[in-house]
Amino acid sequence: MIKKLPKKERDPSILILDFGSQYSELIARRVREADVFSLVVSNFISIKEIQDINPKGIILSGGPNSVYEDNAPKCDAKVFNLGIPVLGICYGMQLMVKELGGTVTPASNKAEYGRAPINIDCESDLLSNVKDRSIMWMSHGDSINNLPKGFIKISHTENTMHAAISNKQKKLFGVQFHPEVIHSEFGMTVIKNFVYSISQCKADWTTETFLEETIPRIKQQVGNNKVLLALSGGVDSSTLAFLLNKAIGNRLTCMFIDQGFMRKGEPEFLMEFFDKKFHIKVEYINARERFTQKLNGITDPEEKRKIIGGEFIKVFEEESNRLGPFQYLAQGTLYPDVIESAGTNLDPKTGERIAVKIKSHHNVGGLPKDLQFKLVEPLRKLFKDEVRKLGKALGLPDEIIKRHPFPGPGLAIRILGEVSNEKLNCLRDADWIVRDEIKNAGLYNDIWQAFAVLLPVKTVGVMGDKRTYAWPIVLRCVSSEDGMTADWSRIPYETLERISNRIVNEVPQVNRVVFDITSKPPGTIEWE
Ligand code: XMP
Repeated sequence: MIKKLPKKERDPSILILDFGSQYSELIARRVREADVFSLVVSNFISIKEIQDINPKGIILSGGPNSVYEDNAPKCDAKVFNLGIPVLGICYGMQLMVKELGGTVTPASNKAEYGRAPINIDCESDLLSNVKDRSIMWMSHGDSINNLPKGFIKISHTENTMHAAISNKQKKLFGVQFHPEVIHSEFGMTVIKNFVYSISQCKADWTTETFLEETIPRIKQQVGNNKVLLALSGGVDSSTLAFLLNKAIGNRLTCMFIDQGFMRKGEPEFLMEFFDKKFHIKVEYINARERFTQKLNGITDPEEKRKIIGGEFIKVFEEESNRLGPFQYLAQGTLYPDVIESAGTNLDPKTGERIAVKIKSHHNVGGLPKDLQFKLVEPLRKLFKDEVRKLGKALGLPDEIIKRHPFPGPGLAIRILGEVSNEKLNCLRDADWIVRDEIKNAGLYNDIWQAFAVLLPVKTVGVMGDKRTYAWPIVLRCVSSEDGMTADWSRIPYETLERISNRIVNEVPQVNRVVFDITSKPPGTIEWE
C-alpha cells in the first residue's frame, strides 16, 4: 500500500539566492552537512515563489560584482521584510546594506584576500561560540561604510570595519568573510548558528529521511511500468540501481554495456557483485568488438569521444528494444548538474537573465532527448557526498563508493592516438599495477585519481643485454576537490619506484615510466 504523499516534494528549509558566487554550491553543501535541506535558486526568484516555498531562512551568496555596477545582480528588496531570517555573505551582505539605506565603499587599497583573524565586538546570535581572533577567509574589494538603521557591527578585522553585522530585531545578518570555506576556522559554527538558533531549522535532512520520502515517491511515479538503467559501475549509477531495486524490485532492468574500455577486472567485478551477490539483474552487453572496430584509424581525441558516444547510443537503443519495452529511463543526474547559476547567466550587455544553463552530463547520461522514455532521476537533489552516504546506507561496498572517477570513454582516451586491442591490454596491465601499488601504499583514498596513460611513441631501453624499443607509460596522480582544479600528488619515491619497476618488468610492451608533474590548470587531468 502506497502512503498518500504530499503533492510537492520537500521544500528547502534554507534557500540560497545565488548572485554568481563560485561558492553558492558550497554554501548549500555546508548547510546540508548540518542535516538541513537547502537549495540554490536564482537571485531572480520572486517574492511569491519564496512565499510558496516558505523557507525558514535565506542566505544571499557572494558574487563577483560590485553592488554599484550598472548591471550588478539584485533580488527583490521585499525579501528583507518577509520576517524570514536573512544572512548575507560578502556581496550578499553588501547588497542588503545598500538596499536598506547603508553605503558600501567601492574597492580601495583596503581590499582583503585570504586569512584574516576576526575580532568579536559584542555578543550576538550569529557569532555565538565563535572564538575571538579566529581565522576567517576573506575575499573582497568593497567594504561597508555606513550601516542601515537598526544594524550594529558585531565583528571587525584589521582591514575591515564591518566584518559581521546584525539587526537582531529583524533577524537580518551579514558577514564579509566566507563561513562556507573550509579555511574559515569557525565557519561551520556561524552556519549552524544561522540555521539552528536563528532560523529554527531542525536537523532532519538525513539519509534515513531521504529514503523514507524517496522510496514511496519512486513507487508512485513508476507504478507498474518498467524502468531501464544504464549501469556504468560508478558510484552514481550503482547507488541508483540499489535505490531503485529497493523501491521497485524486478520492474528495474539494469544494462551494462561493456565497450571494452574498462579497467582490468571491472566488468567481472560489477557482474559478480550486482548479479550474483545482490541479485540485482544486470543485462551484460558485450560490445567490445563493435567499439574497437569503430575506432580503427581514429586518432583525434574529440572524434574518439564522439564516436564512442554515438556508438553507445546505438547499442543502447538496440538493446533497450530487445529487452523492453521500457516506459522509464533512470538517470543518475546529481544536483550540481542541474543547479541553475543565475550570476553566470546574465547577459553582460543588458544584465538580463539568459536561458538557464543545465550542465551537460558527459557520462553515460549523454543520451539523446528524443528517446521515448520518461525519466526517473531520484538523485537530482543530492550532492556527490550525499550519494556516497546513501550508497553506503544501501549496502554498496567501498570498492564502488570510494572508486576514483573514471571517464565515460574509459581507457580509449588514455591511449593517445589510435586504439587497438594490444594497446588496451597493455594499458590495462599497467593501470592495474598503478592502482595496486597506490592501494598498497595506503594512498588510494587520499588521491582524486591515479592512472596510467599510454603514449603512441616508442623509446629505446635496455633489458638484460638486449636493446628494447617499446612504449612509455605516463603515471598521472592528482589531488583535487572536484576535478575542476587539481595538483599533482606528491607520491613517495618508494611508491614511484615500485610502480615503475613493476610496470617495466611485468608489462612486456613497456620499457619506460614517466611521472606527470603538471597541475590543472594549465594541464588537464586526462591527457586527451
Ligand atoms: P579533465 O581532463 O578535463 O578532467 O581535467 C576532469 C574530470 O573529468 C573526467 N573526464 C571525463 N569524464 N567523460 C567523462 O565521463 C569524458 O569524456 C571525460 N573527460 C574527462 C576526468 O576523469 C576528471 O575526473
